[in-house]
Amino acid sequence: MSTPSLAGRTALVTGGASGIGGAVTKLFVDRGARVVVVDLQEEAGEALARQLGDAMVFLRGDVSDRAVADTAVATAAERFGGLDVLVNNASVSRQRPFEEQTAEDWDLAMDTSLYATRNFMLAALPELRASGAGSVINFGSGAGLDGQPNQASYAATKEAIRGLSRVVANEWAQHDIRVNVVCPMALTAGVAQWAEARPEQYAQSAAKVPLGRFGDPDEDVAPIVAFLASDDSRYMTGQTLMADGGAIKLR
Ligand SMILES: NC(=O)c1ccc[n+]([C@@H]2O[C@H](COP(=O)([O-])OP(=O)(O)OC[C@H]3O[C@@H](n4cnc5c(N)ncnc54)[C@H](O)[C@@H]3O)[C@@H](O)[C@H]2O)c1
Repeated sequence: MSTPSLAGRTALVTGGASGIGGAVTKLFVDRGARVVVVDLQEEAGEALARQLGDAMVFLRGDVSDRAVADTAVATAAERFGGLDVLVNNASVSRQRPFEEQTAEDWDLAMDTSLYATRNFMLAALPELRASGAGSVINFGSGAGLDGQPNQASYAATKEAIRGLSRVVANEWAQHDIRVNVVCPMALTAGVAQWAEARPEQYAQSAAKVPLGRFGDPDEDVAPIVAFLASDDSRYMTGQTLMADGGAIKLR
């Protein structure tokens, strides 16, 4: 069976230096894409760039900053001749009960998730239109769908991203740009930290996964993102795909 090819496609992956974003970057390059990565982690980003060679460009930057989105899109155009795929993966939040979450906690979640997603989509629009087969893949979370305790600001921003994605899927279909959402569940460094801070919640989440485990970023989640980036999913837009071992079933 052949796997979806990304040959000739250029992607921009936010938070693409490590975790699920790192897995997506590696798989995209493996399948023939060129990738611009924006991430705060300079060391991890440079190491990945050395590993992947000419097919990847690393930009150190904060996704909260609209100028970073503009620079990243310009880099894709200059280095690789355009942009076909945008993966809005980066996201940061703090977990505590709703009544204890501060204005700064809310700003952090909104700035790095919802507003970053909006800004990168707006910055990418001209190149995605020119692509003729643009694909935007935004990241939601089971935390929002499930109402996970201690995740108010994060859950709110992730559900807002799903709403935004459905609207823009309708608006940008005329430009042949598809917009879909992935809600992953994978054992990354970020999740490992959460598991350490909230072991009972982690154990509960893992126990609820029908396939019996937290996913692997490389083997379980990145291939679903690659499917959405490829022409194999060209008749899908406005959808949320759960990459979570069956933990949540959307209707
Ligand atoms: N891992 C899971 O089980 C899980 C579950 C639900 C949703 N998600 C979502 O999947 C996505 C990836 O999750 P992950 O577990 O790989 O996260 P992670 O924390 O392991 O990695 C996030 C990456 O984004 C980068 N980053 C963080 N803040 C940034 C900023 N301001 N600017 C630029 N880069 C920044 C980090 O350096 C890191 O490389 C996120 O949107 C997350 O909310 C993950």
